[in-house]
Amino acid sequence: MKNNIFLRILVMAQPYKGRVALALLFALIFAASSGATLAMLLPIFDDVLGAREDTDSSLSLDQAMSQTFIPCLEEFSSSILSGNTSSTLEKAKALPGAFLEGIHISSPSQALLAVIITIVFLILIKNMAFFLQTFFIASVEEGMLRDLRVKVYSHLIKLDLGYFARSRSGELTTRITADVVRIKKTVTQSLITLVRQILLLGIYFFITMWVSWKLTLVTIAVLPPSMALILLLGKSLRRKSHRSQEKMADFASFLTETITGVRVVKAFAMEDFEEKRFLKSVNAHRKYEISLRRMKALSGPMTEFLGAVAAGVILWYGGNAVIEGTGMSPGKFMVFLAAALSMMDPAKGISKTYASIQAGLAAGERVFGIIDTPPAIVEYSSAVIPEPLSRSIRFENVSFGYDPQKPVLKNINLEIISGEIVALVGPSGGGKSTLADMIPRFYDPDHGRILFDGIDLRKLTISGLRSQLGVVTQETVLFNDTVFNNIAYGAADISIGQVRDAAEIANALEFIEYMPQGFSTVIGERGVTLSGGQRQRLAIARAVLKNPPILIFDEATSALDTKSEKLVQQAIDVLVKGRTSLVIAHRLSTIRKADRVLYIEGGRILEEGTHETLLALGGRYSSLWKMQF
Ligand SMILES: Nc1ncnc2c1ncn2[C@@H]1O[C@H](COP(=O)(O)OP(=O)(O)O)[C@@H](O)[C@H]1O
Ligand SMILES: [Mg+2]
Repeated sequence: MKNNIFLRILVMAQPYKGRVALALLFALIFAASSGATLAMLLPIFDDVLGAREDTDSSLSLDQAMSQTFIPCLEEFSSSILSGNTSSTLEKAKALPGAFLEGIHISSPSQALLAVIITIVFLILIKNMAFFLQTFFIASVEEGMLRDLRVKVYSHLIKLDLGYFARSRSGELTTRITADVVRIKKTVTQSLITLVRQILLLGIYFFITMWVSWKLTLVTIAVLPPSMALILLLGKSLRRKSHRSQEKMADFASFLTETITGVRVVKAFAMEDFEEKRFLKSVNAHRKYEISLRRMKALSGPMTEFLGAVAAGVILWYGGNAVIEGTGMSPGKFMVFLAAALSMMDPAKGISKTYASIQAGLAAGERVFGIIDTPPAIVEYSSAVIPEPLSRSIRFENVSFGYDPQKPVLKNINLEIISGEIVALVGPSGGGKSTLADMIPRFYDPDHGRILFDGIDLRKLTISGLRSQLGVVTQETVLFNDTVFNNIAYGAADISIGQVRDAAEIANALEFIEYMPQGFSTVIGERGVTLSGGQRQRLAIARAVLKNPPILIFDEATSALDTKSEKLVQQAIDVLVKGRTSLVIAHRLSTIRKADRVLYIEGGRILEEGTHETLLALGGRYSSLWKMQF
């Protein structure tokens, strides 16, 4: 599973493989020039600071190099031209040695100049490589981030309503914002940082081996164990500090809870009880904080001491080798020491990188969880675009439950004839909204089917079906955009005249013209705030402009005061004329206008008829009615 996610993350870098390769190349150059800079300690100690035996050399740098380095370089370039890879490698390996030899046989002041120029040059190369690596990887990273966000979003937006009802919106947002960033880090961390650190470690190791394999073995025996101890300590520190933060959060939320609830605490005379609880919570925090601080205090000295012990052992063996003069010059030993100590950094980095890769994989699991969720509402490739409704919408034995174990609609049989106004009434939770949501295919029936002019909804294209529907619900959704764009939402090539007419029919023109910039006023989150009735009328204007043959109103007026309700109701009355309409309502005026009233309770249609016949029946509808008025 984890490997699978790792692979999927890597695959996302595929379109950027050229730039990834360049970044890797510069990581390699960075590591190589770091190692080379370090190796320059050798001539500093052995040739410049005067430790060499044959101090009488007076060759200029030119002369020295033409004896050693230049011939080597010529052989190297001719073997590149001949295309023999193995001999080219051989010649390349000989280059650094020849270069150092050139410095070695030139006069001390010339050697000093050569060392300085070389070090400055190497540091220039190293830093340019570092910059270029980031230069290329930044566009890879940000490109992948965009790709992934677009991919998750475009999948998410196609998922069914049920998915959104099951998920917490904050969580979905986090996945597209923060989690995606964690995934991005995984790629760069694993591909670049990790590679660079491994290369550095490898090069430093190579240098130590080149100086002395015996001393390298000694180092391996003392350095890793002390480093492991230090890493272990660091890990435990992080865990402890995490716990301590948790306790802090506990105790903060306890505080807000009792402060906001202080009335209840006092009313129940629970002050002493709360004080004891508080003490317990504060104590828990104190315990973690003490051990955290002690451990922190231990970590610095321990790191230094362990480092000193390791360095002492290495110094003992290496220093003795220098004293005995068995092939170990002071410069070589300094190079060795520097390389061995430089290994600490990439080694620490690798363990940190590992943790960040783990976090990225966990984030990957959550993000791919969205991408892998199949949409519950799918369109068949053979789906057809429906003609405008001419006969009826027919529910045949339709059953449905959000949880299939608990049906919300039970065996619904219903035919809405084209041009008819049908009202749904009943106690809340009876299933009216659910029934209305079946028509745009927000959900598919678990059993039975819904026919649109005799064709199963599932055989129609989703966009074709929904283009025939206008839906106005209790909560209207307005976007952070102009009034014009909110009314014209989803419609192309609309003139201001058409939007104006729609607003007029929806009883919205008056208040829109009263707004500072009329139809160009930005509304929504950051714009002008609107009253419930105004929002509702904009939503109706949106439906008017769409001019669909079928309308669904789900308690469109229930959240309004009497005055706005009248305005909205008038708008609805104009709109439903001559259209097939399903109206979920609890107002007498709306219900009276309906051709048919269905009383729904417990997911079943219990009574059916006109308002008058149902009242005369004296059943549930009439008792609901009497209760309301
Ligand atoms: N998204 C949903 N997920 C799970 N249960 C739901 C969801 N929407 C509605 N329900 C449940 O389905 C039943 C019918 O709800 P609904 O169709 O909204 O009734 P009505 O519109 O008649 O008030 C209720 O028990 C409600 O709790
Ligand atoms: Mg409802």
